[in-house]
Amino acid sequence: MAYEVRGVVARGKGQPVTVETILVPDPGPGEAVVDIQACGVCHTDLHYREGGINDDFPFLLGHEAAGVVSAVGEGVTNVVVGDFVVLNWRAVCGQCRACLKGELQYCFNTHNAAQKMTLADGTELSPALGIGAFAEKTLVHSGQCTKVDPAAPATAAGLLGCGVMAGVGAAINTGAVRRGETVAVFGCGGVGDAAVAGAKLAGATTIIAVDIDDRKLEWAKQFGATHTVNSKETDPVEAIRALTGGFGVDVAIDAVGHPAVFEQAFYARDLAGRVVMVGVPTPGMEITLPAIELFGRGGAIKSSWYGDCLPSRDFPMLVDLYLQGRFPLEEFVSETIGLDAVEEAFTKMHAGDVLRSVVVL
Ligand SMILES: NC(=O)c1ccc[n+]([C@@H]2O[C@H](COP(=O)([O-])OP(=O)(O)OC[C@H]3O[C@@H](n4cnc5c(N)ncnc54)[C@H](O)[C@@H]3O)[C@@H](O)[C@H]2O)c1
Ligand SMILES: [Zn+2]
Ligand SMILES: [Zn+2]
Repeated sequence: MAYEVRGVVARGKGQPVTVETILVPDPGPGEAVVDIQACGVCHTDLHYREGGINDDFPFLLGHEAAGVVSAVGEGVTNVVVGDFVVLNWRAVCGQCRACLKGELQYCFNTHNAAQKMTLADGTELSPALGIGAFAEKTLVHSGQCTKVDPAAPATAAGLLGCGVMAGVGAAINTGAVRRGETVAVFGCGGVGDAAVAGAKLAGATTIIAVDIDDRKLEWAKQFGATHTVNSKETDPVEAIRALTGGFGVDVAIDAVGHPAVFEQAFYARDLAGRVVMVGVPTPGMEITLPAIELFGRGGAIKSSWYGDCLPSRDFPMLVDLYLQGRFPLEEFVSETIGLDAVEEAFTKMHAGDVLRSVVVL
């Protein structure tokens, strides 16, 4: 029998989201139902609402969540009822060509629940990133559940499920920031500040935060930025070169997802440096660069899906560091809100008033 719960649905492109009754089926083989305790509002939810990801409306939004497993289907062995879990959107298959090479973070066949959640009238929902956690309960593949220390509050732990992990991972996994390196992070929202915090964790000595909003730059300092640049007022490439002996940074991270910002990141790095694109561009955006610059500067240009994380390795590690006071997970939580305030949270995010609004259920 299906569970009847409330969830936040985006019915059409650009339309305000609504709280609706949704039906969550009992878990089938390999699936789990999770009682959501908290779910952060990520810019990607807004991308879905804007039709920037795909056109599979209606979407059940929310994907940055923690909660407690309330039911498991046949054959589930990695979690049991009562486990405190952070949901992930990369449940690795273990069998695709990436997994077989031991590169599970690139898994090309990640799992989601096979059954569909629906609206009360039976219309199938597309859960954001295969999760859909702005809801009292959600149905996922059991591999999407990563057990972490229940001592961590769900409001903070849930953020690892997307934005914070993407940002931290962009620095420590994709960018492979090392002790003593210089790093620039463009865009200091939840993802960018997590990249700042990740660069600090990895031991970077110069961490330059770039944003067009001075409030964001102030917050970035709290996460470890050693310098800030308002790129509305100052040319960020020149400013970054000036702060790095004229050379540019070892690692430049684009946490905005706009071609103009990517170009700044490209030119703000040192020779043989790494550029990491973690911000998500929308379809239709194009990047044009002189090929000789691409070749001549050497180094690497990498995109970072989910911070190239392995949830089973990285979520418990970051929760443990947080509980030891070594990673500021709860500082990403700007406010806690109810399910009915997601649309308002989008407005605040757009206006730059919050780092993360977190829905508490
Ligand atoms: N790769 C992934 O796995 C992954 C995961 C989560 C989110 N994302 C993406 O990361 C991006 C950031 O997400 P977020 O939740 O931090 O969003 P956010 O809206 O909270 O933050 C974006 C920040 O960029 C700043 N900004 C906007 N235009 C700028 C410009 N031209 N130059 C410098 N800064 C600028 C804004 O002031 C804001 O501080 C989004 O594109 C989101 O979809 C990617
Ligand atoms: Zn795989
Ligand atoms: Zn997200």
